[in-house]
Amino acid sequence: MNLTLKVWRQKNAKDKGQMVEYKVTEISEHMSFLEMMDVLNEQLINSGDEPVAFDHDCREGICGMCSMYINGEAHGPDRGVTTCQLHMRMFKDGDTITIEPFRAKAFPVIKDLVVDRMSFERIQQAGGFISVNTSGNTQDANSIPISKEAADEAMDAATCIGCGACVATCKNSSAMLFVGAKVSQYALLPQGQVEATERVLNMVAQMDAEGFGNCTNTGACEVECPKGISLENIARMNREYLSASLKG
Ligand code: SF4
Ligand code: FES
Repeated sequence: MNLTLKVWRQKNAKDKGQMVEYKVTEISEHMSFLEMMDVLNEQLINSGDEPVAFDHDCREGICGMCSMYINGEAHGPDRGVTTCQLHMRMFKDGDTITIEPFRAKAFPVIKDLVVDRMSFERIQQAGGFISVNTSGNTQDANSIPISKEAADEAMDAATCIGCGACVATCKNSSAMLFVGAKVSQYALLPQGQVEATERVLNMVAQMDAEGFGNCTNTGACEVECPKGISLENIARMNREYLSASLKG
């Protein structure tokens, strides 16, 4: 495949940035999107130009680093995949592909396609830890009864990889799908009950302090989430928040 790429180039956080057009040739349909970006970067390096900066780590849908907005969609046109899992077979010869960073006030661009998602880390830090007695009297995990339904729902929530696609997709730059997933993974389990009240209050307060918008139930986040995190997690977080506020 021969492709035209329109890529967001921005030297640093203060630079205004602009779209720059590149051509790449002989792209295999079996390549991943990031491998195609590697081809572009090799080309740029060979011609003495600055390669395009983009985040990546695991390249198998686990780390949540590969944040790209491709043809107007977070992680591109496929469903249930991250950018590193997106295959070039989703495109066709002669296509023009627009590649931008995830855009949100709380995700400032650092360089080219790299954004600062420390706001997510600070929200998780605000959530704190769970109390587990490890003093030698640790209760056997198998002796704590947890319904299959709750275990499955907690596991589903825990699959959130913190990629930020939900924020980039939301017209309000809301982080509620992410925070809902992080609150839910503990709220559904007995181990998460001890700090449940302060956890949800602190995480929501940090989410607001970081400048994320509110949820208006559009549901775009759920559609674009590579892990299929359900809107039900936002509803659960809202219930947790309300009951914590009444207690607090
Ligand atoms: S909820 Fe989905 S889109 Fe949002 S950070 Fe988690 S995995 Fe990414
Ligand atoms: S590089 Fe890790 S999820 Fe894409």
